Amino acid sequence: MNAGEREAVTVLGATGSVGLNTLDLIARQPDRFRVEAVTANRNALKLAELARSHGARFAAIADPAAYRELKSALAGTGIQAAAGPAALIEAAQRPAARVMAAIVGAAGLAPALAAVERGGMVLLANKECLVCAGQYFMEAAAKANARILPVDSEHSAIFQALAADRLSAVEAVTLTASGGPFRDWPAERLAHARPEEAICHPNWAMGAKISIDSATLMNKGLELIEAHHLFSVPPDRLRVLVHPESIVHGLVAFTDGSVIAQMAPPDMRIPIAYSLSWPERMSAPTPRLDLADLAGLTFEAPDLARFPALRIALAALREGGGAPTVLNAANEVAVAAYLNKRISFPHIAMIVEQVLNGVPSGDMCEPSALEDALALDARAREMADTAIRASLIQAV
Ligand SMILES: NC(=O)c1ccc[n+]([C@@H]2O[C@H](COP(=O)([O-])OP(=O)(O)OC[C@H]3O[C@@H](n4cnc5c(N)ncnc54)[C@H](OP(=O)(O)O)[C@@H]3O)[C@@H](O)[C@H]2O)c1
Repeated sequence: MNAGEREAVTVLGATGSVGLNTLDLIARQPDRFRVEAVTANRNALKLAELARSHGARFAAIADPAAYRELKSALAGTGIQAAAGPAALIEAAQRPAARVMAAIVGAAGLAPALAAVERGGMVLLANKECLVCAGQYFMEAAAKANARILPVDSEHSAIFQALAADRLSAVEAVTLTASGGPFRDWPAERLAHARPEEAICHPNWAMGAKISIDSATLMNKGLELIEAHHLFSVPPDRLRVLVHPESIVHGLVAFTDGSVIAQMAPPDMRIPIAYSLSWPERMSAPTPRLDLADLAGLTFEAPDLARFPALRIALAALREGGGAPTVLNAANEVAVAAYLNKRISFPHIAMIVEQVLNGVPSGDMCEPSALEDALALDARAREMADTAIRASLIQAV
């Protein structure tokens, strides 16, 4: 990039919570950034509005049925419209210094991989990519000389705390968890937890799927798997600490007894800004931390009995191979069923465990190609669907 030239950024999943925050930050620095491409799933009108207001050159919608709507909403603007899986890949591969991968779920894997394969910087919010095909994804990044910049607040914290230190000097990496909206709920009450209650996260405003994952603590399990791949930390050196205030996001303990933690108010624009400006920092319109103002910072161990999803995810992390792929796919299906009120809150973890137990161990191989990961993902989805249909217990 020449001096004075603006950095091009592509935002995959532009209409979502992370996507909108990213575009908001970009718009505040028009001399520094410009938007190359934006994508969405079905929300054509919102995508068109974002493409117009941010001056994008290309807008891609995953659902081909939404193409007409997108095309007519962009008529006369000069912005190119496209639809379908190939259009998302094209968006990911257009020339851009940074690609924000903020599609939710394993649906984001192929576009994120396409972004990785072109080299350059990939700002990774989509943790499901790494859970579904972590080893393959990181190998593809190394091969293409791509730089993966974590966007998840906990992983951004670990990225900053690790700085230039060698992994051999790291004793433990701890991700904090707010504990979600049901942290204090007894098991009997959890049985009747409604999706509307689960979505009301105490500290963060996020998309529906990650909000449910935060309520079950599956999110923290997915994040442990993500951290394992991002930082090459073995499972036995990864920890979770419940920290309801969400001020300390991650901690790295070193062999000399030192612990480096990153703190910030719970606002996703902070880790997003770091991923947009790394290796520099940019100013962001985010709240400032005033420690004197806080009543206190509290920490506790997670309760794996009330929140079995974290126990199940930990087991999948330790098992490795294809277990995380199956875990992720079954969880996506179970969360969707819970959001549609087809199953109860405790059923999410039960369905995931049932699917994991149902795949023969010989079929749980580490995916060594995108097709392998997607085939195992599809199989686990089918099994989860069957398990849900067979489930007699109806949601509240
Ligand atoms: N939200 C947070 O604070 C946060 C924090 C850390 C990490 N993350 C991670 O970031 C990712 C995005 O989360 P989010 O909360 O921003 O999600 P979200 O608000 O639900 O937005 C999801 C985005 O992905 C698009 N999308 C959904 N399904 C798709 C599909 N099948 N194909 C292509 N695009 C699809 C959506 O388009 P439509 O609008 O058309 O549906 C939307 O643009 C997730 O992996 C999440 O775990 C989020």
